[in-house]
Amino acid sequence: MKLQSIRGVKDILPKEIWKWKRVESVAHKIFSRYGFDEIRIPIFENTRLFSRSIGETTDIVEKEMYTFQDRGGDSITLRPEGTASVVRAYIEHKMYAPTSVSKMFYIGPMFRYERPQAGRLRQFYQIGVEAMGSPSPSVDVEVMTMLLEFFNALGLKDSRLQINSLGNHNCRPQYRDLLKLKIKNQLDCLCKNCVNRYVRNPLRVLDCKVEQCQEVAKKLPKIIDHLDDESKNHFAEVQKLLNIAKAPYTINTNLVRGLDYYNMTAFEVTSENLGSQNAICGGGRYDTLVEELSGPPTPCFGFALGLERLISLIPFKEENPNVNPDIFLVCLGEAGRVSGFQAAHELRLAGFKVDRDYEMASMKSQMRKANKSNCHFTLILGENEIQSGKYILKNMNNSEQHEIDSQNLVSEIGNWITLKN
Ligand code: HAM
Repeated sequence: MKLQSIRGVKDILPKEIWKWKRVESVAHKIFSRYGFDEIRIPIFENTRLFSRSIGETTDIVEKEMYTFQDRGGDSITLRPEGTASVVRAYIEHKMYAPTSVSKMFYIGPMFRYERPQAGRLRQFYQIGVEAMGSPSPSVDVEVMTMLLEFFNALGLKDSRLQINSLGNHNCRPQYRDLLKLKIKNQLDCLCKNCVNRYVRNPLRVLDCKVEQCQEVAKKLPKIIDHLDDESKNHFAEVQKLLNIAKAPYTINTNLVRGLDYYNMTAFEVTSENLGSQNAICGGGRYDTLVEELSGPPTPCFGFALGLERLISLIPFKEENPNVNPDIFLVCLGEAGRVSGFQAAHELRLAGFKVDRDYEMASMKSQMRKANKSNCHFTLILGENEIQSGKYILKNMNNSEQHEIDSQNLVSEIGNWITLKN
């Protein structure tokens, strides 16, 4: 049997990883400016945590979780998202911050048993952000502008911020009933999925991707026309602050999100360059989840973005900056084997990036490998050089050669190569 990775699960190869590290380091830098610190949450949790927080009737909980029984008989689930775990950790470690907001972000893999296609994986990576402890619309907008600043810093173009309000727990149940009533006479125009959703999760009909459902959705009542005063004011303030920040956005009244914990502001950032799976990022306010999981009342706002989707959109300018060695060693003969080992060891300890050939092939073949490695310099240790104790350092850009005293290898090479960090 040929062993292969599982469908919908991808390796991130060494030639790609520098892009991931770049994105992650920009996230660290920009998020810390806004007071966010990293949290590392477990890959797996008790199944109940996800079913209670994401919602029993959501696609994720009904169809997409990787759930198994461990050897002790407990039901365990590979995390399909990070918010539930952050909330669990917040409560478990009493991370309540009475005078300010607890701000955390996480980076890591999530698992959903979805049908794999372009942009949709079964193991995918997210960067997620959670701001916990304030109902203020300023938090909503600070977090969204932080996200836009992050995208800007990465050179992302053609992304679109879409916002909506899902109302609060006073006005949404009434809207839900109204929606059900309106959908009821049109059930035969909906896809099978939506017919099922209609009973338990009618809001999902609004953002179904199937064309016939979109036609129905266009004419259904809009939640922003049925908000109570608190929700209306919150949404107006969010728009006012987005305008002050000069953040471009559109209101998408059909945006409802696929997880149940949201209220008030919901948002997504999409890109036309992603194909049908066009969401780079999604999030919103979830003011009651902490309480529902037995914590104190804690209004929260957060988002998560899909790293594979984001990275596919960034116009990276340079080639992999990590692979080019400073020095490639060309060592010949038996003496070269030992002196080469010693030279590589000393130079690496001193901070130089060193690569070499281990086969001790001919000079010509080693120079070919040196060229292929895109090294900046070669250090040549032939029999004569080893005997005289004078190695040759060759600049591969201009072919200039310099004699290097093998006794003062590191300091003499330091005259020609500056270490970057
Ligand atoms: P979500 O919308 O389910 O939200 O996922 C966020 C992002 O993860 C999506 O916009 C997408 O870029 C990426 N994503 C989701 N599923 C897949 C997949 N199968 N393959 C590739 N990428 C995918 C959440 O997860 C919420 N926890 C966000 C949040 C945080 N809300 C509040 N705080």
